[in-house]
Amino acid sequence: MINPIYTPAPARYDSGMKYRRCGRSGILLPEISLGLWHNFGDVNPLSDSMAMLHYAFDHGITHFDLANNYGPSYGSAEETFGIVMEKSFAPYRDELFISTKAGYDMWPGPYGNWGSRKYLMASLDQSLRRMKLDYVDLYYSHRFDPETPLEETLQALVDIVRQGKALYVGISRWPAEAARKAYSYLAERDVRCLIYQGRYNMLDRADEAGGIISEAADNGVGYIAFSPLAQGLLTDRYLNGIPEDSRIALGGHLKSNSLTPGLLESVRKLNGLAAERGQSLAEMALAWILRDRKVTSVIVGASSTSQLQRNLSALESPAFSDDELQIIDSTNP
Ligand SMILES: NC(=O)c1ccc[n+]([C@@H]2O[C@H](COP(=O)([O-])OP(=O)(O)OC[C@H]3O[C@@H](n4cnc5c(N)ncnc54)[C@H](OP(=O)(O)O)[C@@H]3O)[C@@H](O)[C@H]2O)c1
Repeated sequence: MINPIYTPAPARYDSGMKYRRCGRSGILLPEISLGLWHNFGDVNPLSDSMAMLHYAFDHGITHFDLANNYGPSYGSAEETFGIVMEKSFAPYRDELFISTKAGYDMWPGPYGNWGSRKYLMASLDQSLRRMKLDYVDLYYSHRFDPETPLEETLQALVDIVRQGKALYVGISRWPAEAARKAYSYLAERDVRCLIYQGRYNMLDRADEAGGIISEAADNGVGYIAFSPLAQGLLTDRYLNGIPEDSRIALGGHLKSNSLTPGLLESVRKLNGLAAERGQSLAEMALAWILRDRKVTSVIVGASSTSQLQRNLSALESPAFSDDELQIIDSTNP
């Protein structure tokens, strides 16, 4: 056992974090969870990643969201998490809710992508090794595979739970009709779908409009929102150009062509509204998602501890007036 270099804050559950029940399940998730898609790969200083993970847990963030190919390089965010698991979090494993996923490209050839039983099972074994875990709390099908029979993907999830390699399963980005089928298929096998993970933020409301969020709730399934800040667009990050250390400048998944004049105008309006409410745009954007009690949690990304710290202030956000909600509704790029 490596000497412990980290002792979590004794007051971690008294620092303002709130927990919401995930659908009709025994699981409570923090309203703000931390995702490791960007900024935790082997291209990032390990000390920064460790500092963010420690800061998160010290402030009541118990849920960490990963996927097999988060990095870059692929797999390296899980490796980073594995290092922190070994060096810091091992004694606190039972206080953590760790998710990972498979569904996008991970390794070459026909078995390292999409939704086959072969891919989901092999990928989870790899993820467990990288993260130095015996099991994950939650395993997702990362995307719907239109070519693989839905029963094959879902039965793999059922069997993974039966093998004890995941305690719960979820689906991410599945279209509404397939999601409905998944909820029934899994429930009929006594392995209920715990949660649906989808993109939801003030600039992208497709999951609300398409009924994904309400159908999850109707089926007793939680809903967790990814990219709640639209990868940084719903912050003050790009109001005065493209900072050198930003996701756009560093060549992440956010591209400079997203910064259209229409989008910037909307973001400026929203930023003005946030200022009137006495908060930052990032805080308002997170609070706006959490105004809906059908949403269990938002998964934020962060490139620094100070961003994470600022995002946690969203938990103290004032309620929205009807007028404010209307302004937000009318501010679409
Ligand atoms: N299921 C899926 O298919 C899927 C897809 C995408 C994401 N996810 C999950 O969702 C998580 C979050 O996604 P995301 O990283 O796109 O989330 P996000 O919270 O929308 O964006 C995070 C980025 O916003 C900027 N930011 C965050 N807080 C800020 C603040 N207070 N002030 C200014 N800028 C701030 C940072 O950009 P800079 O890096 O520029 O500083 C940060 O990297 C992922 O890690 C992953 O776990 C899942």
